[in-house]
Amino acid sequence: MSAPDRELLLITADPVVIRGARRAADAAGLSVATTSDRPGSEPDVIVVDLEQPGGIDTVITLRATHPNAMLVGHVSMPDSERWLEAERAGCDLVANRGAVGRQLADRLQSGTAQRRRFPIIDDADLAGRLGLVARVDDTPFGRVAVYHVEGRVSVIEDVCPHAGEQLSAGVLDGCVITCPRHGSQFDVQTGERLRGPADVGITAHQIVRDGGRVHIVWT
Ligand code: FES
Repeated sequence: MSAPDRELLLITADPVVIRGARRAADAAGLSVATTSDRPGSEPDVIVVDLEQPGGIDTVITLRATHPNAMLVGHVSMPDSERWLEAERAGCDLVANRGAVGRQLADRLQSGTAQRRRFPIIDDADLAGRLGLVARVDDTPFGRVAVYHVEGRVSVIEDVCPHAGEQLSAGVLDGCVITCPRHGSQFDVQTGERLRGPADVGITAHQIVRDGGRVHIVWT
């Protein structure tokens, strides 16, 4: 019999998580392996216990060695700091141990398992704030700025394509940001170039609001 095409690797000994992950894998047609029986395999999904010593370091290593795998971390206690740390380290999904199976199944069924996400800002930090809301320097896409204008949150590249100025240091008028150096203008919701001398637009990142946070998402 030929091996299934897709595989889920368990790096956890938590029986609740293992049960839930196996159910999700079965429903999606993935085989299940552990580190002891399939070292060196190329899994599509990896489930990691974040509360083991070095759990975050494990995620960082896995992100580097398996860039296309969906990384799922689990915790037993709601700990927003660890949660955020795990997402920034490269976890695509972080969940409480009892919820891993269901959330993993949802992701696999929806076809968004391979969609990476990076947390940018908490919803709570957006409340009641308009215009430029935040600057975040250390994302996988470099420096970005978060805007909240006309009822919409957007996350855009914060580097002018003309000569590298920090765009968010410019003047914002409605949806239009003006580069403080030579006056190029861009739409902060779409990234569209509205006026030169810059000859291209900037990246407006796709975002999702989930779990009380705004994330950049990509595949
Ligand atoms: S650096 Fe922005 S317009 Fe020149």
